[in-house]
Amino acid sequence: ADDDPSAEGKVARVKLSSDHTLAFPSLSHTPTHTPAFQRPSQLLTFSYSPSRILQFDDSALRYFVDPPRGADLNHGYANWIRRPEERGRIDGLLSAWSRFKKSIQGQHPDIGVISWRGVMTKILTAPYEERDPWELNVMCVDGTMYFEEHLSEEKLKEKNGLEPRQQLQSYYGYSFESYCTSSTSAGHERSSSGAIGWGGDVDTNVQWCSVVKTKLGDTRIIIGGEVDCIRGKYAGNTDNFVELKTSLSIRGPHDESKFEKKLLKFYFQSFLLGVPEIFVGFRKPSGYLTTTQGFQTVQIPRLVRGKPGAWDPNVCLAWGDQFLSFIKNTISGGSKDNVWRIKFTPKIGVSAILLDDADVKDVEGGEDRVGLFPQWYWNELGG
Ligand code: A3P
Ligand code: MG
Ligand code: MG
Repeated sequence: ADDDPSAEGKVARVKLSSDHTLAFPSLSHTPTHTPAFQRPSQLLTFSYSPSRILQFDDSALRYFVDPPRGADLNHGYANWIRRPEERGRIDGLLSAWSRFKKSIQGQHPDIGVISWRGVMTKILTAPYEERDPWELNVMCVDGTMYFEEHLSEEKLKEKNGLEPRQQLQSYYGYSFESYCTSSTSAGHERSSSGAIGWGGDVDTNVQWCSVVKTKLGDTRIIIGGEVDCIRGKYAGNTDNFVELKTSLSIRGPHDESKFEKKLLKFYFQSFLLGVPEIFVGFRKPSGYLTTTQGFQTVQIPRLVRGKPGAWDPNVCLAWGDQFLSFIKNTISGGSKDNVWRIKFTPKIGVSAILLDDADVKDVEGGEDRVGLFPQWYWNELGG
């Protein structure tokens, strides 16, 4: 059907059918209508402490510093304090949203979606996802949809039981963060453990998060996500936020097009939170840093345009807008404690299923919750 001339110029042809499915968009046309995406504005920030307590302060904020040349990303691996993989709960984001609402005495426009940034990134990049399926649990209360990633027991086990080689590769990303950041704006604290420029041992419990308000098409969205560090002084906005990334050094055209594909996720991850800069550390397979390069987030789509494996952010925005309308149309109405399971299958599309009581119990995981919500938030909603 891709060469059907009558379809020429139409927005990615999407089937909104009565059987609760949304078909994968055609990638052979650029959408004629791209929904606007509003520049994110920050509502508040919070930190997770080493004991994983959520605090409404900036104690976990880190400042950017240039990493040393040739840094060894294997450094400190044995001292890594790991946060266990957990279900994609939105409790922290709900705490922040609840606190923000109280601070403005409830005067805010209608919010269409509340979600972590990671989930929104998966939704928007889905048109180019060829391999990994994903699932969400979704509830809709008073017109606001709440998204939580659904990780099945096996998927959780898989994430917690990575091969040593995969664990080390994942550590390289955190190690790079340590070399690139300091807890003070003045630069690195003196390292007790010997490596030059080391910013301190890695504890993945500790995170600094920003919560922003934005809008895609007609849908206002509240998004929360981790911010790796900032450049210079913190001014209470996203203008000097920096996202840190590692990637294998590029040695030829094949590596280059692989990297350009990865840029799609780097781009949306940062774009959604209003992070203007992505600082990439290229490394050898052995974990030694070779070069670094800073990217302006807004310039990234231009870098890949017309290249092999190119992607178009407008395809993603148009899809995202259709996805949100589809879910809203499918799940609104009905009882407010309804929980829906949204399944995305690469190259096929999206389906929505209303969960039965047993599945909802499974989502609650034996905790004091109503579906995705901790009891306290449900009570605040007047449930
Ligand atoms: P890199 O992406 O630089 O490799 P983030 O980049 O989102 O701030 O995440 C920090 C690091 O967490 C990543 O650094 C990576 O090492 C690790 N990480 C993030 N998502 C991951 C995933 N799905 N699987 C394994 N490791 C992951
Ligand atoms: Mg991060
Ligand atoms: Mg990062």
